[in-house]
Amino acid sequence: MSATPHTPVPHNLDAPLPMTLPRLAEKQRLGEPIVMVTAYDYPSAQVAEQAGVDVVLVGDSGAMTVLGYPSTVPVSTDEMLVLAAAVRRGLTTPLLVGDLPFGSYEASDEQAVATAQRFIKEAGCDAVKLERGGSSVQRARAIVQAGIPVMGHVGLTPQTATALGGYRAQGRTAERALRVAEDALALQQAGCFSIVFEAIPAAVSRALVERLEVPVIGIGAGPATDGQVLVFHDLLGIYDGHAPRFAKRYADLKAQMIAGVAEYAGEVRRRAFPGPEHTYSIDDEQLAQFLAELD
Ligand code: KIV
Repeated sequence: MSATPHTPVPHNLDAPLPMTLPRLAEKQRLGEPIVMVTAYDYPSAQVAEQAGVDVVLVGDSGAMTVLGYPSTVPVSTDEMLVLAAAVRRGLTTPLLVGDLPFGSYEASDEQAVATAQRFIKEAGCDAVKLERGGSSVQRARAIVQAGIPVMGHVGLTPQTATALGGYRAQGRTAERALRVAEDALALQQAGCFSIVFEAIPAAVSRALVERLEVPVIGIGAGPATDGQVLVFHDLLGIYDGHAPRFAKRYADLKAQMIAGVAEYAGEVRRRAFPGPEHTYSIDDEQLAQFLAELD
């Protein structure tokens, strides 16, 4: 029986429930680690879905991993929306967070809300993420007040890495650790449902996780955070640009991809591909008629 608009599609009771903000908070309360990964297109979203992760981030790291920019800074909102919409089409269960790119939210609350709304309306994201404390705290508050869930991001914030002295760990002095603490607490106060800690000493993160109520997702922030996030292309060995020390590699897919394409190229050049099993046939009589009429 095919479903019509009037036929309710039966819910598959074995299917995992879609991730929601209350379920995320519940995982934190129960001490169940939250798994987050980035994705930038339909296949990577399907991989995240089938691997059973909790949260998928369409990170502006996609500027480097899939669009080939030298940093996250140049990527535009329109480019991010194309990536996010493709990820949406591949996802059912995880919470989908879209990363607001550099220059798309800093200027005013109005700009921040308008950009966040595009991620929700045009790409189907569930939430957005923005970087830094400081003026970003007020932008986060404005977006939350507009009804859109916001994830914060403190520590190493790649969009402003130059101002931080480069891609380096943050909070390694008491003074700088206090600044990270201030930013995280202010983002929580502004209504962020979760905060990413990037490249922060494990002991600093542990102290802050104990003092924060919202789930903290770490990347290079040690084991005490409520969850972990890795960049898809780093964890699978697809991107071979600079890999930070926290980017553990679980596979070496780029090498396998090169080997596969090289083998294909070799077979084409040796005329070993395509073989009979990859080829369509035509009835002899039809072929004879075709050739006669062709002449
Ligand atoms: O853009 C990104 O991938 C990120 C994660 C590293 C958190 O912001």
